[in-house]
Amino acid sequence: QSYWSPHIAHELITTAQALVNPRGKGIYATDESPDVIQALFDGVQVNDREEKAWTKAENRERRKKWRESAYNAVPSEYIAGVIMYPETLIDFGLAPILANKGVIPGVRANAELMPIPGSPSEFIVEGLDGLLGRLQAARAAGARFSKWRVTIACTSKERGLPTQTSLELQADTLGKFAAISQEAGLVPIVEPDVEFSEDADLARSVEVHEKAISLIFDRMRAYNVLLEGSIIKPSFPLPGLKFPGRDKYKAEDIALATATVIARAVPTSVPGVAFLSGGLSPTLATGYLAAVNALVNSSQAPSPFARLPSLTFSFGRALQGDALKEWVKGNEAQTKELLHKWSKVCWQSARGVVSG
Ligand code: 13P
Repeated sequence: QSYWSPHIAHELITTAQALVNPRGKGIYATDESPDVIQALFDGVQVNDREEKAWTKAENRERRKKWRESAYNAVPSEYIAGVIMYPETLIDFGLAPILANKGVIPGVRANAELMPIPGSPSEFIVEGLDGLLGRLQAARAAGARFSKWRVTIACTSKERGLPTQTSLELQADTLGKFAAISQEAGLVPIVEPDVEFSEDADLARSVEVHEKAISLIFDRMRAYNVLLEGSIIKPSFPLPGLKFPGRDKYKAEDIALATATVIARAVPTSVPGVAFLSGGLSPTLATGYLAAVNALVNSSQAPSPFARLPSLTFSFGRALQGDALKEWVKGNEAQTKELLHKWSKVCWQSARGVVSG
């Protein structure tokens, strides 16, 4: 009833395992769209140099150069895989830089967001049309996994987001994506990004995470996805920025909330959970990851936390933010140093050690 042969299944499982093991190794997310990368470059203050007006072609070349610098600097002892934007993988052809040092290249599969008619603060994620062909091309260019991000609004219960319609839509989209990805021979990373910009408290965020993730695995099962050859990339459950009592929560509270969500909603057949950083500062993101792993490391059977999948990172901003600033200023050596530093901090955090 499934389309993968034992050979493909074996490859999917081996790749998924390699992305999150040995414990500590994780994923570096570099799949920002050209517009987003541009905004990151523009956000860096460069002193003693004139503001330059870049042409379109120069901006393209700049993106390519930044990615090359970053990929050359990726330390393979800490980073197992890198998520690439299609332009970087297909047009720039940069996967070999990673593959040659044993880092697994992956590709962003989702397109852009569109408001859901009738619920304009919730979004459909486009990109399912023609996906199989695009992912087959990505595999031919060296990708071995792919990622799809959906956003999920999260308010207090009274304010009513996310809607059930949106949760079902996001889960169904991720289920279809995961099945198509495996059909193309790529490990799917399903990414439910539950927002923390609103007024939800921590318990509400836990409730929304648990519901969203459970629905996603229901739909993955419905589409015959090989769970052993898949990875989930969720957000940390967090109190919203508009929740008045948010400061009372400590890293230990976030850790308990996170382990609870994973224990309840992620099947143990899934080899790993790779968290996104979602705009948290590097110190906070790595602090939460360290705290949840410390909790897991100190748990023994029969605690459900003693048998969770690997909990690691798939950070973008928290891992490369400092390095990118130095690169824009032309400091190649510091760029390398900072990517190495933060990769190591992420790796230590995924082993339960706080060092950020
Ligand atoms: P952040 O860690 O910056 O949230 O990026 C991860 C990612 O891939 C978002 O889709």
